[in-house]
Amino acid sequence: MSCPMRHPSEPQDVDQLDEEAGMLYGEYLMLDKVLNAQRMLSVENNKPVHDEHLFIVTHQAYELWFKQILFELDSIRDIFKEILEESQTLEILKRLNRVVLILKVLVDQVMILETMTPLDFMDFRGYLCPASGFQSLQFRLLENKLGLKQENRVKYNQHYHRVFGNDEKALIQIEKSESEPSLTELVQRWLERTPGLELEGFNFWGKYQKAVEKLLEEQRKAAEEVESERVRNYKLIDLEKRKEVYESIFNPEVHKALVSRGERRFSHSALQGAIMINFYRDEPRFSQPHQILTLLMDIDSLITKWRYNHVLMVQRMIGSSQLGTGGSSGYQYLRSTLSDRYKVFVDLFNLSTFLIPRSLIPPLSPMMKSHLCLNWGPMKNYNSDDDKQELENSTEKSL
Ligand code: HEM
Repeated sequence: MSCPMRHPSEPQDVDQLDEEAGMLYGEYLMLDKVLNAQRMLSVENNKPVHDEHLFIVTHQAYELWFKQILFELDSIRDIFKEILEESQTLEILKRLNRVVLILKVLVDQVMILETMTPLDFMDFRGYLCPASGFQSLQFRLLENKLGLKQENRVKYNQHYHRVFGNDEKALIQIEKSESEPSLTELVQRWLERTPGLELEGFNFWGKYQKAVEKLLEEQRKAAEEVESERVRNYKLIDLEKRKEVYESIFNPEVHKALVSRGERRFSHSALQGAIMINFYRDEPRFSQPHQILTLLMDIDSLITKWRYNHVLMVQRMIGSSQLGTGGSSGYQYLRSTLSDRYKVFVDLFNLSTFLIPRSLIPPLSPMMKSHLCLNWGPMKNYNSDDDKQELENSTEKSL
């Protein structure tokens, strides 16, 4: 079999043999387009600046990786849109993991551009205006498809549509990304169906609530036994605060109020599912869902790290009081996007607030235990005559 993609440097005779075999390397990858897309404005203006090349290539590399992330994200959302079969979770894991690895590269890539000094940047920055990363369509699509809501963006960022005002195709894509179910919405729908949440079944939430009541009661007794009045009062006040924190998940009205203020995003039952998966992650059927939740947090934290690295680079290049070429306040605007409002899976990070000691985690009922188990069957004993025969047969066959 010949390779459908040949490198031009392969020997001539191979070239002739494979005449109709397929495309050349450069043809397949359309390198004529990719490698001729670095238009240096400093050269066109007869004042070549060496570092402009790096600036262009870095941005292009980012955009290519954004494209790959969007490709993976769309496919993951498609799988989640169906009633998710457990056989598909491995594929989701594989693709989410790929997105995470790409994001790690993107976070580190900022350092390469930082080899350019502010003075070098100044030499060609003037040619860029009004071009800015603010106009990166793919970055906005990425945010929207992950589930960043308009109302959670900082004020200046809520009007990002305007920059695409004259680009009909871009506007259609943005509208679509805002109206389609985002990854966070689809993940919530999936979590809401976590086995074990049914009130008439295992009723995890009821059992968890009782376990928390027990924990708080134990802590109250321990606090009241403290001799020092100062320490005792401190512990009792702290306990009241902890009660309020738990109230925020047990009382649906408080939960709703937090959601409406944008401080919590997940629906009440999605939150319950996520807590349950965290507690019983060692059970075989919850192991992959737990890994999915971990990767979703990784995505959020890597994007935050990218935002942070980018804003540091911006401060290094243009300081903290120059406007951006896109018209924002520059560093100050970018710094405001580092808050939790931009984390779409913020609730997963905050789950740690609601953990209880392992000893108090409600034990699984035998039925629930077998429901979450993927049994491989008992260990085989090769002592019976039949087994010995079967073993011999299989050894012969493999020989
Ligand atoms: C010298 C390097 C860079 C500087 C000085 C810089 C500066 C800025 C500034 C000032 C903004 C705010 C918007 C505005 O222009 O007013 C911005 C936004 C942005 N930049 Fe950069 N940038 C640099 C490199 C990069 C790179 C390599 C990327 C990779 C794609 C990038 C992507 C973005 C994105 C996506 C935004 C929008 C962020 C948001 O609105 O949350 N920038 N940049």
